[in-house]
Amino acid sequence: MRHFTNVHDLGDLQSALKEAFEIKADKYKYSELGKNKTLIMVFFNSSLRTRLSTQKAAMNLGMNVMVLDVNAGAWKLETERGVIMDSDKTEHLLEAIPVMGNYCDIIGVRSFARFENKEDDYNEKILNQFIQYSNRPVVSMEAATRHPLQSFADLITIEEFKKKKRPKVVMTWAPHPKALPQAVPNSFAEWMNQTDYEFVITHPEGYELDPKFTGNARIEYDQDKAFEGADFIYAKNWAAYSGNNYGKILSKDLSWTVDTRKMELTDNAYFMHCLPVRRNMIVTDDVIESEQSLVIQEAANREISAQVVLKKIIESL
Ligand code: CP
Repeated sequence: MRHFTNVHDLGDLQSALKEAFEIKADKYKYSELGKNKTLIMVFFNSSLRTRLSTQKAAMNLGMNVMVLDVNAGAWKLETERGVIMDSDKTEHLLEAIPVMGNYCDIIGVRSFARFENKEDDYNEKILNQFIQYSNRPVVSMEAATRHPLQSFADLITIEEFKKKKRPKVVMTWAPHPKALPQAVPNSFAEWMNQTDYEFVITHPEGYELDPKFTGNARIEYDQDKAFEGADFIYAKNWAAYSGNNYGKILSKDLSWTVDTRKMELTDNAYFMHCLPVRRNMIVTDDVIESEQSLVIQEAANREISAQVVLKKIIESL
């Protein structure tokens, strides 16, 4: 594997899952594989889980790790070509990327959708510049349209906890005070569509995601109906994708919050969320603290998904 930006980069999903469970059983089995190899993690946006789990995964493989927070301590970076650089931005990304490439073997990048230009976001302008100019394998640590390390961890978690061969997995929109990108729901849908699970998406009208990601998933506008018989509830907020509403908040309707009454409609479903989560907006305290909540296990599997990805890339260097 050269780059990791989406589910297709991983190859056969069943063998990737097998590898994930092997690594989970012995995280240090390949502790010499990354010796004298360096990972640089570049963050244009904040992170807790991705930063720590990816660094831990790299350390499990014996790698050296450097972290650059673009907004804290680095020169301010210009990302647009053709701009007269007379503002506070000191360095252009087009020099910064190959310079960083010289110092490492693999680059991880976190760069969220900016909601300034839908085309730039959906063409993954920043991530693709790293791929084009770094001369190094690039790992998406959440880009504008996808969060594949998260989705892989989500899949590992579902495989660990599912009680049926073909569980019903429901991704539900839930309210949030800020406009959030579609990367997590896009990516989760893309990964779920590679499985044989029953996959349902529920959201208020106007929150339709890009069909490229939702594929043949059943879209159900009645959240109660969607929850009936579910085995896994995957909650997430996202801002509108369609037309002129791109990046806008259309609703903060708290009747979409995942609560105990709704979870009782399910087949004793597990609750999932990628974190960070706004309690009593996305999910009530009762549900997230319940025995059916998998949010901590999901976050723990971020180390495993990152380790599989880094291992595969190192093996093909
Ligand atoms: N789920 C996730 O990516 O968490 P962070 O934003 O904290 O990295």
